[in-house]
Amino acid sequence: MNKTFLFYIGVILIFTSLLFIACKSPSEEKPADKKMSQAEMLKHGEYLVNTIGCGDCHSPKKMGEMGPEEDVEKRFSGHPAGTPLPPIDKSQLQNWALFSHDLTTAVGPWGVSFAANLTSDPTGIGNWTLDQFKKSLREGKFKGMDNSRQLLPPMPWYNFAKLTDEDLEAMFVYFKSTKPIENVVPAAIPPDQIK
Ligand code: HEC
Repeated sequence: MNKTFLFYIGVILIFTSLLFIACKSPSEEKPADKKMSQAEMLKHGEYLVNTIGCGDCHSPKKMGEMGPEEDVEKRFSGHPAGTPLPPIDKSQLQNWALFSHDLTTAVGPWGVSFAANLTSDPTGIGNWTLDQFKKSLREGKFKGMDNSRQLLPPMPWYNFAKLTDEDLEAMFVYFKSTKPIENVVPAAIPPDQIK
């Protein structure tokens, strides 16, 4: 092996290492514990809430040609108070879980549950703390309070419990930024009180 050959190998090695360093994206050098800014948090929260689909149950719907479509004016305001409950065939409750056509009411062996108001209004989560929001989604506690009842189906909180602290905070920031909609969602109905 002659010297010129070794020289060229050396040059190629130096060149490729420089190229590698230059191409490394800046995000890889970002420290992992850097906290998101408020604006980044809002954007991330919006992304999570909309891709997970909280509105599937928590937003009232308008009936479209292919079925229920989210009513964007009333996004995340929960089951609309005052909507009459259609008759329930109790003989089917052990076999079926039933949904109202707007998916904000569900009936099953647990009784009747109504999707909560998640907007920034005081009748939603406007007065909630981040700790309440986390307790609600991590432990399935109604109103995010220690001594309250367990959340009922079909709220899939046990899946959301696995989200990181940062994700939950971002979602909370996003919900707090939503248009406040006043709507006091009715209390759940236990199975023995279904008429
Ligand atoms: C499949 C339907 C469904 C989906 C999807 C859903 N929820 Fe719910 N959620 C409900 C129902 C129904 C309730 C009311 C349960 C009850 O009364 O115990 C509820 C309750 C809640 C509560 C408790 C409210 C309170 O007053 O205690 C919070 C907070 C909540 N949901 C947040 C979310 C978030 C955030 C998402 C999306 C990441 C989501 N939900 C997705 C159906 C759903």
